Amino acid sequence: MAKKLDILIFPDPRLRKVAEKVVKFDKCLEKLASDMLDTMYEANGIGLAATQVDHHIRLIVMDLSEDRNEPRVFINPSYKILEGYKMFEYEEGCLSIPGFNEVIARPDKIELSWQDLKGETHVDTPEGLLTVCIQHEIDHLEGKLMVDYVSALKRDRVRSKLLKEFKRY
Ligand code: NI
Repeated sequence: MAKKLDILIFPDPRLRKVAEKVVKFDKCLEKLASDMLDTMYEANGIGLAATQVDHHIRLIVMDLSEDRNEPRVFINPSYKILEGYKMFEYEEGCLSIPGFNEVIARPDKIELSWQDLKGETHVDTPEGLLTVCIQHEIDHLEGKLMVDYVSALKRDRVRSKLLKEFKRY
């Protein structure tokens, strides 16, 4: 089992960095993806962006299966919102904002493209939870967080609570 990576906790400023495009598809990238999956499983999360473990490259791991045995890796993911979309509301959580859940509305019809660990490109029009989850994770790569969708008052409350709880920096 690979070493568990440290997950950055809001309001750590490193969560605000914009991630760089992945250009090298090598063993290092494979190792990081595998370590991130282990970290995500240990933390009982369904998705994790490289930004959250202080690696600022466009890499996301995810597992939305009930049995936690369908690991997925998305490299350089991007999406466009498709015509006829509706806003879909889902109660989200985030490993970087422990104890905070909030209903967020996101478009429910997207076309998603990404590369795999070999650098091959894939395009898909996902449905259900994947649609929401990938938008949440791509936000991380842009330095954006769930708390940016709620009121400043709520955000400040979460910030003070977590600063007290996690004196990491
Ligand atoms: Ni998150």
